Amino acid sequence: MQYKFSDRIRNVKPSAIREILKYTNAHPDVIALSTGSPSNEAIPVEEIRAISDRIYREMPLAGLQYSMTEGYPSLRETTKKRLKEEFGIGRDFDDLIITTGGQQGLALTPNVLCNPGDTVIVEAPTFVSGINAMRIQGANVVGIDMDEEGMIFDKLREAIETEPNVKLLYLIPTFQNPSGKTMSLARRKAIYDLCVEKGVVILEDNPYGELRFRGEDIPTFKSMDDAGIVIYNGSYSKVLSAGMRIGFLMAHKELLQRLTVAKQFSDCHTNIFFQILTDEWLKNADVAGHIEKIRKIYRERCDFMLELLDRCMDKRVTFTRPDGGLFLWCTLPEGCDSQELSELALKKGVAFVPGRDFMVDSDAPCRDFRLNFSTPSYDNMEKGIQRLAEAVDDYLTGR
Ligand SMILES: Cc1ncc(COP(=O)(O)O)c(C=O)c1O
Repeated sequence: MQYKFSDRIRNVKPSAIREILKYTNAHPDVIALSTGSPSNEAIPVEEIRAISDRIYREMPLAGLQYSMTEGYPSLRETTKKRLKEEFGIGRDFDDLIITTGGQQGLALTPNVLCNPGDTVIVEAPTFVSGINAMRIQGANVVGIDMDEEGMIFDKLREAIETEPNVKLLYLIPTFQNPSGKTMSLARRKAIYDLCVEKGVVILEDNPYGELRFRGEDIPTFKSMDDAGIVIYNGSYSKVLSAGMRIGFLMAHKELLQRLTVAKQFSDCHTNIFFQILTDEWLKNADVAGHIEKIRKIYRERCDFMLELLDRCMDKRVTFTRPDGGLFLWCTLPEGCDSQELSELALKKGVAFVPGRDFMVDSDAPCRDFRLNFSTPSYDNMEKGIQRLAEAVDDYLTGR
């Protein structure tokens, strides 16, 4: 049979990160500094077990039947209340639905807003599943470089003015994946005003916002959204459990109505048992204490990796010192390609994600790469960075 695939799926490459994951799973001797998962230590397993037992004892059928597309009403209310009280997010014109992880929010938004050929602007680099979610809808995806304050404003303005039919700006303003960067308040305000002026919807993706382990919070785009142009994509994956697949979208009711229709035909509703469980956890657990605890876990892990890099890494390699999130972003000297280093590093027994895998043009050489500090054991972090430093020494020798 000669299968005839759609142009949409032919335009999307499988995620290189998934391929690296397959490789590291098949070669347990390779240390993975390449994942994007939360730390196992950050998942409150015993609390989850106790809530789970209680749900099956007290309301067994509630979690085992069909439910509403918009989400479990109580979880929607608990999440809205928390967003309002803790982060100043949500206006009278907004509403919220529960999604199957933040990933579903990234898939639903261009589905609702973009026709093939419409432009979606993204940060360069950005979350590769975000790029693919836009591409699969046939969007023209355009990457805009970042500086220390985030997406470069003048380049964004130029793209909005010159690219065809710019519908959506996809941003990860806080502890960006992969760069770990956080956009400054001034840049957020300038970009927000520009998008209001030009009629461009902002998709603010914020799965890492609560993982701040240093410094002060910066207001989200959604918290300043008087015009109703921001779709806020949140997730409990990095706060409670990634496997439960519980996320949420907050947006102007008019947008949310369409997003709900798109979700209905995608998965009917998000796993109702885990929605109930998440709601019970939010209502009954010491959530603030838990977040404090996981921030400490990530601060200690991040500091340990930074210490190792300071000690072992060639001084020509630079790296970020993030205030939160799960990643460090490293940069090789001018003219290098981290893809070439990756091949050497795999032979030495350590995996990371080359920067080009986060770019709109993933074939162009890129000297950056991403390291993850949330999942490896301390022992593996030490061995992994030593192996990486050796690979860098070999790579840079004679250049
Ligand atoms: C920037 C970003 N957005 C969205 C997601 C999706 O997260 P989830 O679907 O687990 O909520 C991730 C996951 O790593 C991410 O890094």
